[in-house]
Parts: sequence; C-alpha cells; structure tokens
Amino acid sequence: MDNFIRVISKFALEGLNAQALQDAALAAKQTLESGSGAGNDFLGWLHLPSSIDEQQLQAIEKSAEQLRSECEYVITIGIGGSYLGAKAVIEALNDHFAAYKSGNGPKVLFAGNNIGEDYLYDLMDLVRGHKFGIIVISKSGTTTEPAIAFRLFKEMLEKQEGKEFAQRNIIAVTDARRGALRGLATQEGYATYVIPDDVGGRFSVLTPVGLLPIAVAGFDIRALVAGAVEMEKDGDEQVLNYAIARNALYQNGKKIEILVNFVPRLHFLAEWWKQLYGESEGKDHKGIFPASVDFTTDLHSMGQWIQDGERTIFETVVSVGDQQHEVIIPSDDEDLDGLNYIAGKNVDYVNKMAELGTRLAHIDGGVPNLLITVPALTERYLGQLIYFFEKGCGVSGYMLGVNPFNQPGVEAYKKNMFALLEKPGHEEATAAIKARLKQ
Ligand code: PA5
Repeated sequence: MDNFIRVISKFALEGLNAQALQDAALAAKQTLESGSGAGNDFLGWLHLPSSIDEQQLQAIEKSAEQLRSECEYVITIGIGGSYLGAKAVIEALNDHFAAYKSGNGPKVLFAGNNIGEDYLYDLMDLVRGHKFGIIVISKSGTTTEPAIAFRLFKEMLEKQEGKEFAQRNIIAVTDARRGALRGLATQEGYATYVIPDDVGGRFSVLTPVGLLPIAVAGFDIRALVAGAVEMEKDGDEQVLNYAIARNALYQNGKKIEILVNFVPRLHFLAEWWKQLYGESEGKDHKGIFPASVDFTTDLHSMGQWIQDGERTIFETVVSVGDQQHEVIIPSDDEDLDGLNYIAGKNVDYVNKMAELGTRLAHIDGGVPNLLITVPALTERYLGQLIYFFEKGCGVSGYMLGVNPFNQPGVEAYKKNMFALLEKPGHEEATAAIKARLKQ
C-alpha cells in the first residue's frame, strides 16, 4: 500500500483544459512560499510541522498527562479554528462510542462552540460531581461563545473542587500578550500555551490549539506532526493537483464543492475543511461554496439532489483504505433478507462497492469527481491530510485572487449581536439597530 495520500483527478477534468492553470498554480505556490502575497503575516503554519521541536511536544504531553491523571472529563472550550481541528482529529481516531464506554483516560468534551443554553446545562449536569479539567482556547481571548462557557465551567470547577484543583487543571491556549484570556490566565496562574501571531485560527490545529486536546484524548501527536512533515516536504504534487482541479472546475461553473466521506469518522474533518476553505476563499463575492455529506447515510437524503439537481457541483471524495477492525457478514440458512450473496464478505467491502458505484453514478449524472486516497485513518495520515488541505487552501486562494488568510466578513454578525446586547462601547450601533427594527 502506498503510504501517502494522493489526489486522483481522472474523473474530474474531462473536457477541461486544466493544463492551462498549471502556470497560475505554480505562480500561486511561489507567492505563498516566498511570502509575497496578501495576508503574508499569517504564514506561520507553512513551516509549522517541521518547526515543532521536542521541547514543545514534551511540554504538551506533560500537560496532557496532568489532565489525564486527575480528570474524568476534560472540557475543551473554543470555537471555529479554536475547536474544529481538535474535534476533527479526535473523532477520526476515537472509538465511535467512546462517550458510552469506560476507557483509560478522560473523555474529551467540547463547549464554547455554540450558545446553546440547553447544551451548556446538559454538559454542566454531566460533569457535576465528577473531577473535570478545562482547556480554554481563544486566540483573541475575547470571543463571546467560549468566554461564556469558560466563565460557567471555571466557576463550577472552583466551587466543586476548590481553587487549587482548578488552577492545576485549567490550561489556557491564547495569544502571547493580548486579550482578556491572557490577562485572566496570568492572574489565576494557569499553565498557558501560545498561539503564534502568524498562525490564523483555521490553520492552527498543529499548534497547542489542536495538539493539546488531541494528546489529552490519548492520541499520538508525534505521529500526527510527522505525517504533516511528510506532506510539507513531499506533498507539492498533490497540493497542486488539487488546487488546479478545483479552480478549473470553478471556472467552468462548478460553484459548490462537496467533500464526501464514506466513513462516519470523517464527519468532523469535513466540518474543519469547510471552515478552512469557506473562511479562506469566500470573499470579494467569489469562492467555491464548501459543502459536505456523509455517505452512505446522506445518499438517502441528498443523493437525489446530487444525482439530478442543478449541475453546479463537484465532489471530492476522501476515500479511506484500511479500516481498523473487521466485521464479517454472516451466512444465514434461511436467507430471508436475501443477503447471502455477500455473506463472508467484510462490511467495508460492501462500503467500498457503494463508494465506487456512487462515484460512477454521480460522474454519469454530470458531477465531476476528485478522489483523495488516504491509506488509513491513523495519526500519520491525518497529519498528511491536514497539511495537504492547508497548503491546498493557500495555493487555491491565491489562484482565485483573494487574500486566503483574513476573515473580515465574520465581524458583521458580531457587531449586530453586541449592539443588540447593548455591550458598552456599542451605543451608536444599538440606537441604529433599534431604529431599523422599528421601521
Ligand atoms: O479562523 C478563525 O480565525 C476563526 O474561526 C477563529 O478561530 C474563531 O472565531 C475563534 O477565534 P478565537 O480563537 O480568537 O476565539
């Protein structure tokens, strides 16, 4: 088995002159690597894998061990880029039913990624009376969703286990100097990790933002980083293939890219990918809309649209080679369900045939198909995949002609929300929004 992820564009580019984009892709890659493009103060992620040193890894492992030794639950608080990377990797590696099984080490749960009152209530209810720790992650240190969750769980932990336990088992990941969380962590004496200034949230999974929760969940962050290093060193051909193909398709009217998986483990990788590409490319009224589906589940809901709906989509299938476990379909003497024709086969064989059959059907239906092959869902290949998508995003964004590293649009809802909440400093906006709503 090939030990590298690969991009196969055989069924994506029929009738297109993708070669015409070769020069543009090489120029975009050069812009990225030379740091001469827009947003070049946010390129710290580019050489992040190869620059993580032993000392950093040891420190993260030690903090993870502290939380693992004292806590039944670790609540990871963060949103967007301060949430999705860790969630994606943990879900991709974990037992699907880890939440219901007793295992070694704490259960890693997430908060601050929504403002759901009942969600917070239920989570507080779950950890009440149990020893828990907190990893609070916010680069700006001022984001509302994690700030609310942290205030709640910090107070709860201090009341429940005392200040000393809380101080030992709260770890903050934030900016080196600025922001409310930095000030609070300094005052309370929490262990802290820094999100480098030049690494944006959605590119930060290989910093302590992702590595700490992943290590707490019991996974091998060294292998994850090693996989990313492999892609950093040898992945350019795959990166260029992907960037060229998706830009060629976009220019040919395919405005929506659907990231497809056939294994439930990858659901949150798609969520991470959607943030990475959506926030990076969706600006100046341009950009491929990143969507995702979980097959075969969603074939029974979205399959009709994809097969027959408006032809503005293409699919990128993340195809996983080996499963971790084997489950054989048993033979049945009566065969009332008619399944004996696949008796003796393992379940993944059926899934692979569903995958191939679906790809061919969608191609026949006018949906170009890119394939990304991943040998197995291990730390190493996830590391490769993460770096592949990050660099692909940088190259692709420059090909599109946008700054892939800012996100001015995400402030719009916050301004309105603060005005509506009558946050000090927003008086003028509050008056304006009230007048608008009265009209
Ligand atoms: O990618 C981004 O910059 C955003 O999604 C942020 O990660 C998200 O808004 C959370 O920001 P912060 O880490 O500052 O709380």
